[in-house]
Order: sequence, then structure tokens, then C-alpha cells
Amino acid sequence: MKERLEKLRDELLGELKGVAKESELLGIKKRYFGRKGPLASLIKELSKLPPSERRSAGEAINRVKKEIEEKIDALLSEYHQRAREERLKKERIDVTLPGRRLPRGTLHPITHVLSEVEDIFLSLGFEIAEGPEVELDHYNFTALNIPPEHPARDMQDTFYIDKEILLRTHTSPVQIRVMEKQSPPLRVIAPGAVYRRDSDLTHTPMFHQVEGFMVDKAVSFADLKGVLTYFLRNLFGEKTGIRFRPSFFPFTEPSAEVDIECVMCGGRGCRVCKESGWLEILGCGMIHPEVFRAVRYDPEEFTGFAFGLGIERITMLLYGIDDIRLFFENDIRFLSQF
Ligand code: FA5
Repeated sequence: MKERLEKLRDELLGELKGVAKESELLGIKKRYFGRKGPLASLIKELSKLPPSERRSAGEAINRVKKEIEEKIDALLSEYHQRAREERLKKERIDVTLPGRRLPRGTLHPITHVLSEVEDIFLSLGFEIAEGPEVELDHYNFTALNIPPEHPARDMQDTFYIDKEILLRTHTSPVQIRVMEKQSPPLRVIAPGAVYRRDSDLTHTPMFHQVEGFMVDKAVSFADLKGVLTYFLRNLFGEKTGIRFRPSFFPFTEPSAEVDIECVMCGGRGCRVCKESGWLEILGCGMIHPEVFRAVRYDPEEFTGFAFGLGIERITMLLYGIDDIRLFFENDIRFLSQF
């Protein structure tokens, strides 16, 4: 038996030489140490030996078994060590390399200025209302004291869908929609897109306005001046000059347009302000009694002011942009500057 054991040992050690793969090592282990393997059959044969030899033969088998097991385990752990090193080499990263920057989006300048405008009015206790962009002629014109044959309809070139339905040309119809549903006191702003047949350096067919209005007992032109002056100083800076100029809108009486000192030249006169030193920024006025009658408010009881400003115009002035069309071309080089 001793000889067979020695032979088995040499055979196994020979077989282990040059084996490098984990699967082969495990295969050999299974083959020699399994229940039907040569070591198991040697152990079975122990019982056939005379009792005096059994003990030393058993010990010899165990010794060889232990030796071979240790050898295989050593080879396996060598293999694991090598595999680990190879993996680490492959996965090596240079932590000193600069990271890859993910492209980060920014708010569109119009969105940004719109939310700044909203914040100022929210801080004054105004609420935000919305109305449809596809609007009825009644809300866009008639209820705003612009009857069908009124020449004021020529002031705004309109996209009509049919005789009664159009794309709203201003945010003023939201005044009517809110007043129809709610009673004074009201402090509301209505931001949104509006549409006109218009296209050049300072006009686009779609642009954004913010309508604002306040209705209560004894609201005066002084309130209008106070609110708008506060708003414009907040947006353009404390020192910006502001002037109210008489104007006309069918839905306000008296009406005014508000100019700010040209932010490009500081009022000295330049190409942008056409040498006047001033830039028109919004229309406003005291809500016309006819408008109140259209929503069944008593003009003897309530007064109110309203204003409408163009967001693109304000954004151009804030950032010194001289072509309104840049806002809608979606050129990432332009947009990523904000
Ligand atoms: C109006 O739209 C009135 N609804 C404003 C108003 C509201 C007056 C409440 C009184 C009371 P106007 O047509 O002037 O007014 O337009 C207001 C602003 O919109 C202008 O000052 C200008 O900044 C902007 N705007 C007008 N047309 C265009 C256009 N095609 N492209 C970009 N901005 C425009």
C-alpha cells in the first residue's frame, strides 16, 4: 500500500506542475479527493490490512492527503493573487486626471427674467393667474372696449383662427377672465405668451408679456406710479431714471407709457434709444369704466390700474442684447452665456 500511496503522490504532484487555471486545479482536486477517487479507495482498503499495519498506513494516507491539499490550496491562492493583480492593473485609474464635465443646462434668459419679475410682484402681495393662448375675440378685444369696427384693432395685427377665435395678441384678456370670476379687492399678475404678425430686430411673432392689475375701492394713479416705480427700480437698479408719458389704450383711461433711462448709454443718447436717452418699457393706465361694466363691476364703487410689459424687451435691456430673434434660435452658444 505504501508503494501505491507514493506512486499516487508522485503522479499527483507531477500533474499539478504547470497547471495555472483555477478550473483545472479544482478538477484535479475533485478527481483525487472525491468519493470515488484513488485516495478514497485506499482508505476503504485499510480495513483489509492486518490491524498492526492499519494505524501507520492510515497516518501515511492522511499525511499525503494533507500535503497534496496544501499544495493545491497554495496554487489556488497564488492563482487568485495573480488574477487580482491583473484585474487591478486593468482597472487602474489616474486620480490626478481632470474629471469629465457633464454639460449643465441653464434657464432660458426669458424664463429667468420672467421668474424675477414674478418674484418682485409676489413680494408685493400679487397673485399669479393664467389664461388661454387660443382666445375668443370677445376677451381679446370686445370686452376690453375694442368693439368690432374700432380702429384700435388695427394696432395689433392678429392671427385669426376663425371669425371668433384667435391667438391672443396681449395678456390683457386675462384681466377680463379673472374679474368675471372674482370680486375686488384684486392684485394679480398674468404672465404668458402672446402672438402678433410682426417680425424684425425688435419684434417676433410670438413673445411674452406680463399683465398686472389691481382693483379695489379708491385705487389711484399714485398707486400705479408707486407700484411700477418700485418694480422697475428693483429690476434695473435704484438709480435708473423712470418717466411716465401720456399715451392711449382703449381699455385704460388715462393711459401712459413708461420709459426708463437708456441702460446702454445712461441717458446720453445712443443707437439703441435712437438718441433720445429713453426706452419704452410698458403700457399702463387706470382701468376704463367700460371694462368694469363688461365684467359687471360698478365703476362708481371700484377703481383699478393695469399694466402690460414685454419680457423680451426687458431681457434685451438687462443683458444688452440687440436682436430679439436670438432668443428663439436656440443656439446653445448664445443660451449658455446666461
Ligand atoms: C399692450 O399689449 C397692452 N395690452 C399693454 C397694456 C396692458 C396697457 C394694460 C395698458 C393696460 P403694447 O402693444 O404696447 O400694449 O405691448 C406691450 C409691450 O409688448 C411693448 O411695450 C413691447 O415691449 C412688447 N411688444 C409688443 N409687440 C412686440 C413684438 N412683436 N415682439 C416683442 N415684443 C413686443
